[in-house]
Amino acid sequence: MIELTDLRTMDMKVVSLGSHPGIIQAMLDYDFLIKKQQPSVIAIIASGRKSERYFWGESEVIIPVVSRLEQLSSAQREKITAVINVQSARRVLSSTKQALECLPNVKIITVFAEQTPETHSLELAHITSKRDVLLIGPSSVGLLVPGYLKLGAIGGTQHKQLSAAGIFDAGDTAVVSTSGGIVNELIHTVTRSGLGVSFALAIGGDRFPMVTPAEAMLLAEHDSQTERVVFFGELGGSDEYEIAKLREERVLTKELIVYIAGTVAELFETPPQFGHAKALAETYDESAAAKKIALSKSGAVVCEEFANIATVLRERVQHERVVTTATIGERQKSIITSHLSGDKNDDVYLLGRELLQTVESNGVASLVLSMLLGFQVESKRAIDFTDYVLRLLVDHGPYVSGALNTIVTARAGKDMVSSLAAGLLTVGPRFGGAINAAADNWLRGVVFETPAHQFIEDFSLKGGIIPGIGHKKYRLDLPDPRIQALMQFGGNKNNDRYLYYARSIEAITTTKKNNLILNVDGMIAAVMLDILESELGYTPEQLQELVDIEFFNAFFVLSRSIGFTAHYLDQRRHDEGLFRLSDKDVRYLE
Ligand code: ACO
Ligand code: LMR
Repeated sequence: MIELTDLRTMDMKVVSLGSHPGIIQAMLDYDFLIKKQQPSVIAIIASGRKSERYFWGESEVIIPVVSRLEQLSSAQREKITAVINVQSARRVLSSTKQALECLPNVKIITVFAEQTPETHSLELAHITSKRDVLLIGPSSVGLLVPGYLKLGAIGGTQHKQLSAAGIFDAGDTAVVSTSGGIVNELIHTVTRSGLGVSFALAIGGDRFPMVTPAEAMLLAEHDSQTERVVFFGELGGSDEYEIAKLREERVLTKELIVYIAGTVAELFETPPQFGHAKALAETYDESAAAKKIALSKSGAVVCEEFANIATVLRERVQHERVVTTATIGERQKSIITSHLSGDKNDDVYLLGRELLQTVESNGVASLVLSMLLGFQVESKRAIDFTDYVLRLLVDHGPYVSGALNTIVTARAGKDMVSSLAAGLLTVGPRFGGAINAAADNWLRGVVFETPAHQFIEDFSLKGGIIPGIGHKKYRLDLPDPRIQALMQFGGNKNNDRYLYYARSIEAITTTKKNNLILNVDGMIAAVMLDILESELGYTPEQLQELVDIEFFNAFFVLSRSIGFTAHYLDQRRHDEGLFRLSDKDVRYLE
């Protein structure tokens, strides 16, 4: 099991299994108040969102959310040293085992859930007994190591509570408690007495805690920062006898100040079950009275009244303790966040610089690509390709469905935006909106090394249409001149693995029908994938993220919006009035 002196030297990076905004915010507040440079929580495992927003002092930070630990990069997983598990009781075993398997450097895990099946606790305790991992709980509010780590709700969940608790500096008195509420009460008792907390550990109230009170005492024994331990125990179980035995064997030598709750149980005819699962004394040995006797015999200072703890502690104060104070001012959660632009000192900032600076240091294509990706792009090839694509896709005549809809809408007397929207609403899986789906398929085909014939077979089995393949006008004997033009940006087999793959698909589809060529959507998708990977260093996972947010379809939409707008203006200049098909244009098949 890891020692506290080791924990104090670690760069503590935490992942939260499940999301508990109150606890996570409290942990970030503590990090901020003890002047950490950045939050200790670096990821949250939850579903339905990609990030959560938290305060960082008076400012705000974004914490990434992924649905599974495996989605974190291996570098991130290696950095993680602590886990807070706030998942439901039924998920504690599987999620904790997953963390132990996925996180090679994890040293401490705290489990918050109550009603975790006892067999699950025992199984987890057995697993970690073979590893130097401190596994706290279940039903635990966690571990506090003043000045270093707050893992869980322990110490408080409001920043004003944290500021008032005097827990920013390492002290010499450890607090160990089966009860979460009492651990916080004892932290205040220690600091109000004039002493400081070396660490506070909430064992949890289950019958089979994964860190037992005796193991917690051993942590204190081995901790050079700790001079004494304040322990809150309860009736039920036999943990205290293990402590007494270790004290008699001089394995535990530090002063133990203890209060055992539950003497009131002796007034009941039948043993009452108190709140915690273990708090039931079915035999005399499990009673509070018996435990107090055993601990007293071992030399512990047994307090008959809870209030006596403060008295005993005050007697241990040898000098006035200097307490660091720190507070967080008033703060207000923003309604939205933007990583792209915003006001700073009354100036509009875009991509990290003042608007005019950004605008004047970028051409249109460079600005477009940088804004779409969310950072300043420097790659000439990427910018040149974007520039060419934005010009290439601007129009393809009034024949295409989108342009036609804009024209018809303009001739119906609608305004520019309505006519543009009518055209844009036509963009989709068959017309102009296949770039993203094509990128998704080329990416998966390459990453999963799907042979071209298998790829096509899979699609035909699904009865699906392959995005990026086929055209209403162009075919093998009437090639799309735009495709050849785009080859200037791609075609190097060694680097351009996505274009090479797309071409291998086309080589088969065109044997079936001569118009099943690699169309301009499919071509742009492939070349953009290659450029993002070879020029900007995108990993397949990062490319998939771009697919998931439909990045690749932006190019057709942006470029063809120019064409649709121009068609609107053209129609307005030469207004021919309301468009209507004649009878001969429509065959009525009744
Ligand atoms: N993948 C597999 N089979 C195809 C594909 C394709 N991409 N496109 C057409 N076919 C097959 C059809 O399944 C159909 O087969 P069948 O005769 O056995 O039933 C036959 O070819 C005719 O297909 P249609 O859609 O009726 O007509 P057309 O071939 O003219 O379709 C179209 C052209 C709409 C572009 C089609 O190829 C397609 O939907 N492609 C995928 C979407 C896409 O990439 N669109 C972008 C086009 S470029 C642009 O919009 C800028
Ligand atoms: C376009 O760019 O609009 C075309 O490829 C589609 C078409 O049908 O011509």
